[in-house]
Amino acid sequence: MASKKLTIAILAIIVTLSLQGDNNNVVEAQLTTNFYSSSCPNLLSTVRSTVQSAVNSQPRTGASILRLFFHDCFVNGCDGSILLDDTSSFTGEQNANPNRNSARGFNVIDNIKTAVEAACPGVVSCADILAIAARDSVVLLGGPNWNVKVGRRDARTASQAAANNNIPAPTSSLSQLISSFSAVGLSTRDMVALSGAHTIGQSRCTNFRTRVYNETNINAAFATLRQRSCPSAAGSGDGNLAPLDVNSASTFDNSYFKNLVAQRGLLHSDQELFNGGSTDAIVTGYSNNPSSFNSDFTAAMIKMGDISPLTGSSGEIRKVCGRTN
Ligand code: HEM
Ligand SMILES: *[C@@H]1O[C@H](CO)[C@@H](O)[C@H](O)[C@H]1NC(C)=O
Repeated sequence: MASKKLTIAILAIIVTLSLQGDNNNVVEAQLTTNFYSSSCPNLLSTVRSTVQSAVNSQPRTGASILRLFFHDCFVNGCDGSILLDDTSSFTGEQNANPNRNSARGFNVIDNIKTAVEAACPGVVSCADILAIAARDSVVLLGGPNWNVKVGRRDARTASQAAANNNIPAPTSSLSQLISSFSAVGLSTRDMVALSGAHTIGQSRCTNFRTRVYNETNINAAFATLRQRSCPSAAGSGDGNLAPLDVNSASTFDNSYFKNLVAQRGLLHSDQELFNGGSTDAIVTGYSNNPSSFNSDFTAAMIKMGDISPLTGSSGEIRKVCGRTN
């Protein structure tokens, strides 16, 4: 009798918990760190070795892969949609404004997929490969490590319009940055921590020209330095590159935040995080405390990776990352 009551009580708890899960329509977290542990036991080492050789030969590749993951997750979730190539009959995300002439690293993801398909055909999604490769990139460049949740499936569609609308522009104000992250369930603190990704990689002149010529909340010597490789006339030298982190563009550390405190943010949007507004204290905190940045960054990467995954029988496991099956 008592055990029957106990069984009913347990069932009631299970039903309640699963109903709560269904109501959580922002993030249905069905991803786990061991999703492929029996279906593809060597997945992590296979991804790691390909990322390692790419990053060893060109450190910037690690930055490019990290950014691909961000641009994937912000457009209808982390579903590999950014990896789909345009064709005569398909328009994907790669030529959306935030990605055109800028998103790179696709070949590395394709190479990883080839190696993974050889070991475990038809099992691992491109969306998961990108999530793992982004983590590996951070670690290989000296940043923190974390366990990547997997079990995502790949989208059969992509949206150029959503890429244009959802990925924040470098002209964004602080309130625009806060709202574009909040739209995908990420907090202001997550936004600031994730922006620390700009401790690695490069930007084109076209994205920082106005800042280094016309803004006043910028260190004068830094502005002069950046003007040298970025002509003032629009259209000239648009693709010239400069490091997002003036100190150490190939090392994942907290110097991005030290730069902001010194008014050495390269993008307008970077300096918005430390410009007399509500996020100044978070920036100062990360600039003084690398371990607090590392732990907030890893937590926020896991949260970003949980944005609207396709799971179960939704989507597909692509055979190649550049096109649907
Ligand atoms: C907060 C809003 C953000 C804005 C406005 C922004 C904007 C930009 C822009 C304009 C560039 C330079 C692109 C180019 O000129 O080709 C860039 C580069 C980059 N972004 Fe962001 N970004 C943001 C957040 C993030 C986040 C959350 C991540 C990752 C977690 C990230 C990772 C990167 C990396 C690693 C690069 C360098 C890529 C390379 O060298 O190939 N960004 N970003
Ligand atoms: C700087 O501002 C002036 C005046 O608004 C404008 O004419 C010029 O094009 C701007 N320069 C850059 C590089 O943005």
